[in-house]
Amino acid sequence: MPAHARPPATFIALHGTHSSLLLECPPHEAPLWRYWGPRLPDSAAAPALRATRALPSFMLDFDQPLTVLPSFGVGWFGQSALLAHRNGQDFAQAITACEIEWLTPGQSLVLHLNDAVAQLRIDLRLSLDPASDVLTLQTGITNLGAGALDVQWLAAATLPLPGQATQVRSYAGQHNHEFMLQTDTLSRSLWRRENRRGRTSHDCFPGAVVTTPGSTEHSGLVFGAHLAWSGNHQQSIEWLHDGQYQWQLGEWLAPGEGLLQPGEHLLTPEVVASCSMQGLNGLAANFHRELRARLNWPGGTMRPRPVHLNTWEAFYFDLEPTDVMALASAAAEVGIERFVLDDGWFQGRHNDRAGLGDWWTDTGKFPDGLAPLASHVNALGMEFGLWVEPEMVNPDSDLFRAHPDWALQIAGRALITGRHQLVLNIAHPPAADYLFEKLSALLHSLPIRYLKWDHNRDLTTAALAGGVGTAGYRVQVLAVYALLARLREAHPGVEIESCSGGGGRIDFAMLRHTHRVWGSDCIDALSRVDIQRGFGQFFPPEILGSHIGTAPAHTTGRSQSLAFRAAVAMTGHLGVELDVRLLSATMREQLGAWIGRYKAWREQIHHGQVWRGEGADSLVWQAHGDPEANNILLFVFRTAPSSHRYTPPLQLPMLDARARYRVQQLVAMDGDGALQSPAPFFSELLASGVDMDGAWLAQTGLPMPRATAETCFIVRLQRIEP
Ligand code: GLA
Repeated sequence: MPAHARPPATFIALHGTHSSLLLECPPHEAPLWRYWGPRLPDSAAAPALRATRALPSFMLDFDQPLTVLPSFGVGWFGQSALLAHRNGQDFAQAITACEIEWLTPGQSLVLHLNDAVAQLRIDLRLSLDPASDVLTLQTGITNLGAGALDVQWLAAATLPLPGQATQVRSYAGQHNHEFMLQTDTLSRSLWRRENRRGRTSHDCFPGAVVTTPGSTEHSGLVFGAHLAWSGNHQQSIEWLHDGQYQWQLGEWLAPGEGLLQPGEHLLTPEVVASCSMQGLNGLAANFHRELRARLNWPGGTMRPRPVHLNTWEAFYFDLEPTDVMALASAAAEVGIERFVLDDGWFQGRHNDRAGLGDWWTDTGKFPDGLAPLASHVNALGMEFGLWVEPEMVNPDSDLFRAHPDWALQIAGRALITGRHQLVLNIAHPPAADYLFEKLSALLHSLPIRYLKWDHNRDLTTAALAGGVGTAGYRVQVLAVYALLARLREAHPGVEIESCSGGGGRIDFAMLRHTHRVWGSDCIDALSRVDIQRGFGQFFPPEILGSHIGTAPAHTTGRSQSLAFRAAVAMTGHLGVELDVRLLSATMREQLGAWIGRYKAWREQIHHGQVWRGEGADSLVWQAHGDPEANNILLFVFRTAPSSHRYTPPLQLPMLDARARYRVQQLVAMDGDGALQSPAPFFSELLASGVDMDGAWLAQTGLPMPRATAETCFIVRLQRIEP
């Protein structure tokens, strides 16, 4: 049909509180992306896009702007949201009909997109939550043709980014150092990040933040997106010839994983995305609100996050019942509320070379089983938790000896171990049933309120059917979600932590089934300041496992004061990971005092908004409070020795310039020699508090004490007037 003969386009608008999106729906094609950004008026309308654009020279004789499904072969030259073919045919797809199905008017809808030529249907679900301003997108594809359709790539979402987008902040990392910020400048070169490790990965967080000129932690326009998926993934940002960018995120499919027989369907993971005019902190608040709405707590609501004692760094594999019980007693005395028995408790588990798969108590270590320990823990007033790593199997285990074919492998190729272990094919129903039964038996026979669910290696040779089947990375992820869901249904009172050699499996999909994540195996507090800051861009503090470790730290060899370790750890879900029995009486008392502070402050730390920022002279801060910033708990971390004779005051831009605040220092810093030459202002700040103007605090700043490196200054700011 010639363009001029087409009926006029319709528009779809979704409005959040602070953001909007607009799609233009010309007939017989995929809707065009017209806008995603700060809130437009309800009445906002746009001229039809093509009417505003003249055709450039030496181009096709029609204009193909960015759609919700840009696709190769029929006039789109950019990255394609779909790459598929049917035995070499139907390699070019284009939408010929679009039907709009509203789920909630103005808020969520499904676009049913048909390609009558290539014989496939795409269903794209979009919703914009007015409470969080988070946009959720998910794409499905159905093979309507007679032959198998090989889908090699299907973006879960394609998002538009405005031309003024300048930088992309993504997260790289490795074991012991997750969430390392990586900032790249956007240009006409393609920006791309990929992960093929079979889990969310330490190396490449599935998401990023895009900033615009002048945006800061606290203000300016920023965009963020995250693929809620615990397996392989890829994302790209590409400059387009109209000066804007397209951002695609989706699952990286191994060859054959997207092969759809006639009538079959493939559903991508969800993308959660948001934009904010309040800079990085505003964007973080949106993601936190969305995740909080998704968390599925036992009993429906989050209980105050109990202080953990995790046995790993105290004992490693050397568990001995009397020692473990003695540690539990010592833990209870300092105020621990949940005692988690980490690795080493099950059959044959004396080191990391054996035992995974044999999920019953090692009676050599615990002759009477774990019941006496669990009772002892309960009698001390603590909950009992247990470490498991269900998806794994050691070749040296009864399970592997009985079912070697249950391990993911490729026939004819060597078994590749990682940490001496293999991965079970849990999409194989007998393997999933075995794990369900073994875990269920533990949960029935012991008063376990909490599982730390680990996953300590990447996936390699993951063929299904004992090694002769197709690639199983995708189904493995779906199978772990199914196993978790089945266990949670059978044992709804149990909380679960997602651990993967620390933070190798932290994402919004895993958090549909779990309640805490272990941020990193590195509990050196200085490293954690960085790791937790990156984490906080997407995830709220109450789900972040964050422990006080020993000095020197096991992973870095660096030593920090108890005050610094405790202050850093308490900005998440606090735990202790050391042998409390080895602490002096004074240290135990101090540890108990820090735990007491956490208990007093956790409601505030775990609800409401978090603001983060950097001050001059190596200061990194974060503040927790209500969104109006009427009552703020401020942590200022000094990460390096001062390089200034006078450390500049710290500006707190979230405060109301018209208000006055009572500012009170909550913990003296001189306990561990941290404070150098106290100035009179700080004596008053600690003793009675000082009243200050919001405008002054926001523009000039709060005076900072002169302190040694690796210390924390903790202050409450409470609005007193108006
Ligand atoms: C992983 C976890 C650790 C600990 C060990 C036990 O490395 O991240 O916290 O549980 O496994 O083997």
